[in-house]
Amino acid sequence: MLHDVSLTVAKGRLTSLVGVNGAGKTTLLRTAAGLVMPAEGRVFFRGEDVTREPAHARARRGIALVPEGRQLFASMTVRENLELGATPLRGKPDEIAHNLARAFELFPRLQEREQQRAGTLSGGEQQMVAVARGLMASPAVLMFDELSLGLSPTLTRSLFETLRTLKAAGQTMLLVEQNVHLALAASDDAYVLSEGRISGRRDCGASRGPAGAPWFVAVT
Ligand SMILES: Nc1ncnc2c1ncn2[C@@H]1O[C@H](COP(=O)(O)OP(=O)(O)OP(=O)(O)O)[C@@H](O)[C@H]1O
Ligand SMILES: [Mg+2]
Repeated sequence: MLHDVSLTVAKGRLTSLVGVNGAGKTTLLRTAAGLVMPAEGRVFFRGEDVTREPAHARARRGIALVPEGRQLFASMTVRENLELGATPLRGKPDEIAHNLARAFELFPRLQEREQQRAGTLSGGEQQMVAVARGLMASPAVLMFDELSLGLSPTLTRSLFETLRTLKAAGQTMLLVEQNVHLALAASDDAYVLSEGRISGRRDCGASRGPAGAPWFVAVT
């Protein structure tokens, strides 16, 4: 349950949301993505109230979630999983091809394993597919739930490097992450969630660009 949560993600910034197990982080991301409908409160995206919009409509607006546990289709190939991420771009083959090329540029290992079934990938490779799938829809805001869960320190650092690369390219992101130290070091803004409430807000200022307009606001 969330109460009186007010969280803003600014355009072009990496915003982190940290908090102990059960604090409500996943619930907040799922509420933003339209997978959980709040009993009260509102979700705004680019100034528009999207609270009653279903998940697929929000995906078309460019709200994308890399879910906890990756949730890949195990019996489908890497490429097929990535193509599913581009569902909101139906009818735009050039943009899909561009995004696929970009995904393989970010994660060359996935290109080598393009035809491998996702269920046979290592945990780290599966997380790469999950991140790349999120990027396939040209998301306006990309949200990550427990990006580094179960991954080695080396792979975790490498994924955080990927976040920095994406930020440098202007990607707006909201990150839920257990590794608070790494999350705060990479973030522009951070929120602390405890027992369903925002208990702290921190201005990290890490390599912050000019302040963008609020891009996405969840108030539940
Ligand atoms: N559909 C639901 N019905 C009832 N309670 C729920 C529901 N979904 C989540 N909760 C409860 O809300 C609280 C917050 O859960 P949530 O999964 O958002 O936490 P979290 O911060 O992501 O935790 P973790 O770090 O363990 O992933 C938990 O106590 C959970 O049991
Ligand atoms: Mg969670």
